[in-house]
Amino acid sequence: MEKKTYQFEYQKFNDLNELTDSDRKLVQISKEAAEKAYAPYSNFRVGAAILLENGEILTGSNQENASYPVGICAERTLLSYVHANFPDLKKIKMAVSVLDTNKDVSPCGMCRQTILEYEALQNQSIEILLHSTSGSVLSISSASALLPLHFDNRSLS
Ligand code: THU
Repeated sequence: MEKKTYQFEYQKFNDLNELTDSDRKLVQISKEAAEKAYAPYSNFRVGAAILLENGEILTGSNQENASYPVGICAERTLLSYVHANFPDLKKIKMAVSVLDTNKDVSPCGMCRQTILEYEALQNQSIEILLHSTSGSVLSISSASALLPLHFDNRSLS
């Protein structure tokens, strides 16, 4: 038997002003997207903004439903739209903002797996910036870092 450990590094910025101008812009756009969330059941508004390789930034927000499981997270709303419309453009980095908590939050498991799918497809990590109303931002280099022993397209062959 071998004992293995998993470890990952991420950065925590305590203030938006610590970010580069372009990262701060992406975070601010994700915050504006969160204002457009349709979250009448959870009252937990989430926004996401993605930077594509051509410099374009696109946004999404969580979209809930009276039939609760039908609801979809901000990250997946956005990624589905982006890949449906711009499948050939690499996804560089994604900012996610939450409005209704001061806590640091991180994408749910389904969203992590979805981001991972596109990382594997483009063979390039997608950086994730996570912003809460406290002003702090966590920077994570890749969805794969959030999914130890992950399952992706390479696992199938
Ligand atoms: N939510 C997201 O939009 N992204 C996440 O990564 C976690 C959760 C949404 C889903 C639901 O509309 C609300 O937040 C509460 O779970």
